[in-house]
Amino acid sequence: MKILVTGGLGFIGSHVVVELQNEGFDVVIIDNLSNSYETVLDGIRKISGIAPKFEKLDLRDKALVEDFFKRYDDISGIIHFAASKAVGESVKNPLLYYENNVNSLVYLLQQIQHKDNAHFIFSSSCTVYGRADEMPITENAPIKPAESPYGNTKQIGEEIISDTCEVNDNINAIALRYFNPIGAHESVNIGEFPVGTPQNLVPYITQTSIGLRKQLSVFGDDYPTEDGTCIRDYIHVVDLAKAHVAALNRSIAKKNKDNYEVFNIGTGKGSSVLDVIKAFEKISNKKLNYKIVDRRVGDVVSAYADTKKANDVLGWKANFSLEDGLLSAWKWEQKIRG
Ligand code: WQD
Repeated sequence: MKILVTGGLGFIGSHVVVELQNEGFDVVIIDNLSNSYETVLDGIRKISGIAPKFEKLDLRDKALVEDFFKRYDDISGIIHFAASKAVGESVKNPLLYYENNVNSLVYLLQQIQHKDNAHFIFSSSCTVYGRADEMPITENAPIKPAESPYGNTKQIGEEIISDTCEVNDNINAIALRYFNPIGAHESVNIGEFPVGTPQNLVPYITQTSIGLRKQLSVFGDDYPTEDGTCIRDYIHVVDLAKAHVAALNRSIAKKNKDNYEVFNIGTGKGSSVLDVIKAFEKISNKKLNYKIVDRRVGDVVSAYADTKKANDVLGWKANFSLEDGLLSAWKWEQKIRG
């Protein structure tokens, strides 16, 4: 079965391509290389023994998308990662985010609208919950006003898919709301390549520890949590990748109760920033140089998943611990900077 993975050379996409190829799927990747590298193909091939077909293509170009689907008319499913995803950048440049994240999604859905039994797995985010009131967060938690244009594009994306599925029962869609993906494949052949200064905590920690950054700034320790720092649900990227295969298999086996379903994908465990630092110092056996600074605008106090639905309905569960994720991220950092 041929599956299109958009953004398949990115951090999460590349890990999903490996898991799909391990399961025998025939994968085609579209990526515009705006936040990834073609050499990631080598890493994927080294792990799964297969170099997936790859086309450099910008999904904002409707004509190019149409031409692609004319040439690949046997695509049965799409796993859609290709999107801009930097929260801060989206505040400064909202139209880039609406054009890229919304238009690309519409053009893809238009291409599968007339296919029999098309499968569509959407890369969503816990960001859609905004400042959730109750922890852990369930899929029924209210969708609050987005905190950024990036988060808004994920909310809008889910609505576009839901409305499309309402009138196209030939499309089976599943949205996966990720919590905080971290780590790298155990082979250290693929991992995260943050472009420029990392916005996310774990790559900033590993770059500080290897000497690329002088010091980690901890954005605030005056939050209403046990140690004053924010709490998140850090999920190993390989666990996250396997959730996509579980979702695709669910759709193929027609086990889905509705032709649009949503699942939280996390570990179900909350860890504070200081918890992460302590865990990293333990696995790396190195003290981390950090200082407490002011809060970062837009941060929510706490966000961690209720994973009951993913465990019981999707039949998926995270296996790796926070330490496993941090150790794999550290090994990856040492490999690419070593
Ligand atoms: C985690 C915690 C920071 C960096 C974002 C997006 C989300 C998803 C994952 C795309 C927070 C603290 C961070 C640093 C710090 N991305 N921190 N110093 O903000 O939870 O989620 O990335 O889908 O949509 O919003 O992740 O790693 O940026 O922050 O203290 O240098 O680490 O304040 O408490 P976040 P993060």
